[in-house]
Amino acid sequence: MSFSFTPFWRRNYFVRTVELEDCEALASLHEEGFVRPWSSGEFESLLRQDTVFGYAVVEEGVPSGPLCGFVLARHAAGEAEILTIVVPRKLRARGLGHQLMDSVLRHLHAERVESLFLEVDETNAPALALYRRLGFEEVGCRPAYYSNPGSPPTNALVMRRDRQA
Ligand SMILES: CC(C)(COP(=O)(O)OP(=O)(O)OC[C@H]1O[C@@H](n2cnc3c(N)ncnc32)[C@H](O)[C@@H]1OP(=O)(O)O)[C@@H](O)C(=O)NCCC(=O)NCCS
Repeated sequence: MSFSFTPFWRRNYFVRTVELEDCEALASLHEEGFVRPWSSGEFESLLRQDTVFGYAVVEEGVPSGPLCGFVLARHAAGEAEILTIVVPRKLRARGLGHQLMDSVLRHLHAERVESLFLEVDETNAPALALYRRLGFEEVGCRPAYYSNPGSPPTNALVMRRDRQA
């Protein structure tokens, strides 16, 4: 017997653009993902730049409800970079990060952007799994780039994904 179904996260969540009103929520979620969180003011100054855009996951039916993840990216001079991406701990490994990255890739494809870059801690296994699955490849390394309280610094891998035909 076979049957089709929709995974629950597809049914209950959707992706919308990040707005200036989200800055407090962005800062509070960022704190969950990073050792040095960005403030609401830092997010606001980023979002006021014409080159910066982002997407957020929210629960279906509550577009201004709690954020279930977000990504910010910058696009300038034919190239783009991921500035940051976070999914709340309790919602990870359900494909939400993939959906957010996919939204950025679609946006950049429509804008005919040739390359998307990002930097990732070489010890960040979930992020590396996500990026490799999306077709990012390592193109560089910044030694001892991330400082970690109480443990040695770790390298940043620079990754790139080129526009697909
Ligand atoms: C990176 C992050 C955004 C991914 O979000 P997510 O919603 O969990 O992403 P997805 O579920 O779409 O994909 C996660 C991938 O990591 C894999 N994964 C999850 N936990 C893992 C682990 N401990 N080790 C290895 N891989 C792991 C999943 O299997 C999945 O890979 P797959 O698509 O090949 O199956 C999330 O982990 C996060 O917010 N981390 C903290 C902030 C951060 O590190 N941001 C990235 C900075 S470069």
